[in-house]
Amino acid sequence: MFSSVVPDYDLKNAVSSNRLQGLWRMMTGFRLAYVAATACLGIAALSRTAVFMLLRYFVDHVLGQQGRQGMAAQIALAFVGLALVQGLFTFLSGTLAARTAEGVTRRLRNYLFDHIQRLSFTYHDQTATGELIERSTSDVDAVRRFLADHAIGAGRILALFVVNFVALLRLHVPLALLATIVVPVLVVLSLVFFRRVSKVYEEMQEQEAVLSTTLQENLTGMRVVRAFARQQFEREKFEQQNWEKFVRSKRFLQMHAQYWPISDLLCGAQMLACVSIGARLAINGTISVGTYVAYAVLVIWIIWPMRNLGRMIVEMSSGLVSYQRVAEVIAVKREELTEGDYLPASDVQGQFVFDHVGFQYPSGHRALDGISFRCQPGRAIALLGSTGSGKTTLVNLLPRFYDYTSGTLTLDGVELSRYPRQYLRQQIGIVEQEPFLFARSVRDNMTYGVHRPVSDDEIEAAARAAAMWDDIMEFPNGYDTVVGERGVMLSGGQKQRVAIARTLLKDPRILILDDSTSSVDVETEHSIRRALQHLIEGRTTFIIAHRIQSVMHADLILVFNEGRIVQKGTHSELMQEDGMYRRIYDMQTRVEATLERELAGGGLF
Ligand SMILES: Nc1ncnc2c1ncn2[C@@H]1O[C@H](COP(=O)(O)OP(=O)(O)O)[C@@H](O)[C@H]1O
Ligand SMILES: [Mg+2]
Repeated sequence: MFSSVVPDYDLKNAVSSNRLQGLWRMMTGFRLAYVAATACLGIAALSRTAVFMLLRYFVDHVLGQQGRQGMAAQIALAFVGLALVQGLFTFLSGTLAARTAEGVTRRLRNYLFDHIQRLSFTYHDQTATGELIERSTSDVDAVRRFLADHAIGAGRILALFVVNFVALLRLHVPLALLATIVVPVLVVLSLVFFRRVSKVYEEMQEQEAVLSTTLQENLTGMRVVRAFARQQFEREKFEQQNWEKFVRSKRFLQMHAQYWPISDLLCGAQMLACVSIGARLAINGTISVGTYVAYAVLVIWIIWPMRNLGRMIVEMSSGLVSYQRVAEVIAVKREELTEGDYLPASDVQGQFVFDHVGFQYPSGHRALDGISFRCQPGRAIALLGSTGSGKTTLVNLLPRFYDYTSGTLTLDGVELSRYPRQYLRQQIGIVEQEPFLFARSVRDNMTYGVHRPVSDDEIEAAARAAAMWDDIMEFPNGYDTVVGERGVMLSGGQKQRVAIARTLLKDPRILILDDSTSSVDVETEHSIRRALQHLIEGRTTFIIAHRIQSVMHADLILVFNEGRIVQKGTHSELMQEDGMYRRIYDMQTRVEATLERELAGGGLF
């Protein structure tokens, strides 16, 4: 629907080590408009210079001459015509350049958004979110400014220079050379100066980023700030950072305030020299009065724009740096979603066989080692073990969030790495420890990722099965209640149950429950466990839990320690072994007994 305006082009092809070439490729589909913008720029510059040449003709051949006053009207008309041409083409050039820049960056933004959500978990583990946001917003905007303002601006300055210089040469060669003496000085001066300014500018931007990070963190963590009564501390921190921002901005403005008077002085001196030497030549008759008049204005137009050339060049180079930062992200390989040489026509059965499976994070940490067990379709496997023992890492292998690095792992007899990721993810439902909800309605969150139309009856059934229906009925707008950012309007248990309802609607063959009951109170735990019973029925389930009650009914219990399985079996088997499982069991029952005693005796509160 939207794509008709933005030509299709795979931006992957725009990645190049030559940044200018890369940018040029990025403009595929918009180049003609951009070239036209440049041509319009040239025409506008030409017509401006033509005005001055016409002025010369007017002074020399019309003004002082008898019997030619009749031409005055024609010349006036020509002036108006030239002004119109100049205005029209300046406008056209600006519009075309802006349209190009907006089109290119709009396509770039869309591409980056889609690209980033297709990058691997490993990439996201290693890259800060803020960094990606920065590249998809500020850097893209810098590319836009490069195309719309800086490249066009520099082109305009150069076009004015060339056209006016040629015109000056035609007037009088020595005078033309005289007019450009200061130009190299100005260019070098502005280059050196704006390079320094851009450093100061970057420092200012950095501080701005610090400020906005602080602001954002404080807004998100407002509850914590208030709970710990840290307002005063946070205020002082912010004020100090804001002061630094003020200092840096002042430095930036002061540098600007230095440059313009200096360059004004230079240009002024140059013009004074040109105008007075030109005047002497006119007085002693070497050049005509018309030539002198044209010369005086052309000098202005050849010198003044030069003051900005350095700025344009420096800003262009920061645009090129931004291009590179964007291109780096584009160059990252995407996670293959649909690739895989084995695609079953129907749903999986859900039989997993682990044979000496090992996994090492790219950081080098060996999180799993020698994992071997088998799991029959429809059975429940429980994973128990201290934090950091590798339970989450193991279940992350199943949807191929990460690929195991050694051993073999088969699903229904076929190596897992042969399945397309997208297929696996459709077959697997995950209820995370802290489910993420979008700031949308309860209904939208429940049907998220369900690739089929869902009726209201189905939604209600899922809500009931997840023990969430009563809660939803108490919400002000029922299913249409918006749950707030990350679902802050819901309690931990409610979020869990919405996630369970969402998974029920997805109806996957394989289920992963990562610590689904660990962060909720006893009563909620009870209703969640009931909701989970509905969910588990008939599905191959992996349950990660801390409490023995949550795992004791599983068909197979795996006890993890430091990435290895140290015990496996059913509850009754493991109770007979003298190992970690029984120690955890004893400890938990002892804690609970104490708790009960103290509650009964009123000792705890
Ligand atoms: N994305 C990651 N990159 C590198 N190491 C990780 C990553 N995620 C987890 N780990 C490490 O792997 C080990 C197992 O972690 P995890 O599977 O989350 O444990 P559990 O779920 O049992 O608490 C830990 O030592 C953890 O620090
Ligand atoms: Mg975990």
